[in-house]
Amino acid sequence: MFKLSDFTLDEKLKMLIGKNGWEVETSGKAPKFEMHDGPNGCKCFENNDDWTSKIIPTHCYPALSVISNSWDEDAAFFDGEGIAMDCVDNHTEMLLAPGVNIKRSLACGRNFEYFSEDPYLAGKMAKKFIEGLQSKGVGACIKHYALNNSEYDRLNVSANADERTMHDIYLRNFKIALEAKPWAVMCSYNRINGVYASENKDLLDEKLRKEMNYDGVIMSDWGAVFNRAKSLKATLDLQMPYEEHAFGQLKKAYEAGFITDDEIDASCDRLLKMIEKAVAAKPLRTAPLTHDERYERCVSLAEGGMVLLKNDGILPLKPVKKLGVIGTFAKFPAYSGGGSANVFSKYPPKPLYDEFKKLYPETEVVFEGVFHDDGKREIINNLAKVNKAQRLAYSSDAVVMTVGTGEFEESEARDRYTIKLRPQFISVVNAVAKYNKNVILVVEASSAVDLTEVEDSVAAILFTGFAGDGMNEAIAKIISGKTNPSGKLTETFPYDIEDCYVTPDLENYYYDDYTDGVFVGYRHFDKYNLPVRYEFGFGLSYSEFEYSNLDIKKSGEDYVVSYDVKNVSKVDGKEVSQVYIKDVFSLLPRPEKELAAFSKDLIKAGETKRVSVKIEKSSLEYYLPPIKDYYLESGDFEVYVGGSSRNLPLKGKITVVMPPYTQFTPTNEIDDEMLL
Ligand code: BGC
Repeated sequence: MFKLSDFTLDEKLKMLIGKNGWEVETSGKAPKFEMHDGPNGCKCFENNDDWTSKIIPTHCYPALSVISNSWDEDAAFFDGEGIAMDCVDNHTEMLLAPGVNIKRSLACGRNFEYFSEDPYLAGKMAKKFIEGLQSKGVGACIKHYALNNSEYDRLNVSANADERTMHDIYLRNFKIALEAKPWAVMCSYNRINGVYASENKDLLDEKLRKEMNYDGVIMSDWGAVFNRAKSLKATLDLQMPYEEHAFGQLKKAYEAGFITDDEIDASCDRLLKMIEKAVAAKPLRTAPLTHDERYERCVSLAEGGMVLLKNDGILPLKPVKKLGVIGTFAKFPAYSGGGSANVFSKYPPKPLYDEFKKLYPETEVVFEGVFHDDGKREIINNLAKVNKAQRLAYSSDAVVMTVGTGEFEESEARDRYTIKLRPQFISVVNAVAKYNKNVILVVEASSAVDLTEVEDSVAAILFTGFAGDGMNEAIAKIISGKTNPSGKLTETFPYDIEDCYVTPDLENYYYDDYTDGVFVGYRHFDKYNLPVRYEFGFGLSYSEFEYSNLDIKKSGEDYVVSYDVKNVSKVDGKEVSQVYIKDVFSLLPRPEKELAAFSKDLIKAGETKRVSVKIEKSSLEYYLPPIKDYYLESGDFEVYVGGSSRNLPLKGKITVVMPPYTQFTPTNEIDDEMLL
């Protein structure tokens, strides 16, 4: 076995700065350790020393935002497990995933790589993804720690947040996910309260290692280290990728006494332990699914995460004589966002119209691209093309119209400047809808889109997300009714981006003050009682569900919440039920409601299912800065249960009784509780 004492000082310093783009430098004294992106597939290059070398095609799984919209923890596990098999096949010890950052700004270009605006949901789904990945002996590197909630000027901007906001929102997701013991944590590019994440001792050492008891490797994002010595002092173990000057920087700092042997050894020790984990995990590294089976997994994960936003009754679509399929996306779907997450597909999505031909063998399916047909989804529709689409719409019994964003709008390193559909899409949807009442709009975007200008013109809207290789098969199965849609939104779709606290414009180009505090996402819309277009947790199904018989029982420190969900329709379906809590009286302002549990259950037509979930003690607590800890307050908590954050028919109550000496409730009386 390899040991730290085998390494010379220079070899140790080299271990701290990466070998190339993707490996740890072990100077031949420990096995190789290779890592690759993430999060929706394993993306590796043919040559680790050459950024321009070919990307090896693997399976592109749905983006994490789609997995999240499935609200299905098993799906998150299967996603991680499936991607792990591609890692096993492609000499990858660790995947640079999952991303768990909170969707604070709807415009953040990277939201497709993240789970939710809600930290509980993001943490729970990430935890399962990590478990799935690591079950196959592939390590997870959770990212981007922390407060990397927009991409604009990410190498400079400082996310400034107070302790409570950080703990209750932006660290909570990481804290929950860390329960799955990822092998590494990747720091973010940005500054936090003025100091770069990579050099931020408070963030890395105090909060992550000491408060959250994390004992694994902390590594940098690619190029996020500005001074390697300062970052080592903050306990950042590995700088990535290799940069020539870093060794000299460390050597100089060592000779000057700025960094010590102990600091160097502690980081090298953690890196060697990570390599030991990879060695120990070798027996788990198997890839039992064939490529066809992995593709099938991509399809079923995509099906589970698509969200039906509108349905006037046209869906599921019965066989028609002629079906028009309009829009370039039907040929080149937006199956992945841009940047490091953009996976090169082994089984690229099949055209949507071909999928319809399979499901409706008697139907004449005709495709009209309208937009440029070069695979880049360039929008240069001209009047003749629009007119062709209108003619097709007029002669068809129903139309499936595809629009969306893609890897240019939604990508790392940039934010969107609007959440509206491009004007050309709006005009073509409305132009086509004039000639056909049965337009089914498929929106291939991964983050919130403002659909105000088209939604009244169409009969149904399916929001797909960037749903990976199996995307078109999944869309066709949902539209035809072969699959009953069951996804629900994990971010709020407002009427207007101006209703959000965070809009695409930064007031100051140096920092971003998180003055919204803990009121992020639905917590913001609830606080100001603002109407929203599609609320957090919303999604339609071909089934209908009714809720009844709420019961809440204490179980140790937690509470078990049970309720009946009845499928009152004639079709089997899956329902995502959600449990929210509200702290009725609290020392500090708390949100109107917060997600505390959820469940996704298959319920047969006419069946009633008793669902039981747990509200953990940690969901009732909040961070109280003066005690530097989480605080559970005695008193009443309301419990709401239902099918979305704004449709909660069941209401119950929990009364928490804590020992009086743990409480900070104001009192005019002398408190002699401690004397009792
Ligand atoms: C991204 C990371 C990614 C890394 C390696 C960075 O630009 O922020 O998420 O893992 O590149 O590709």
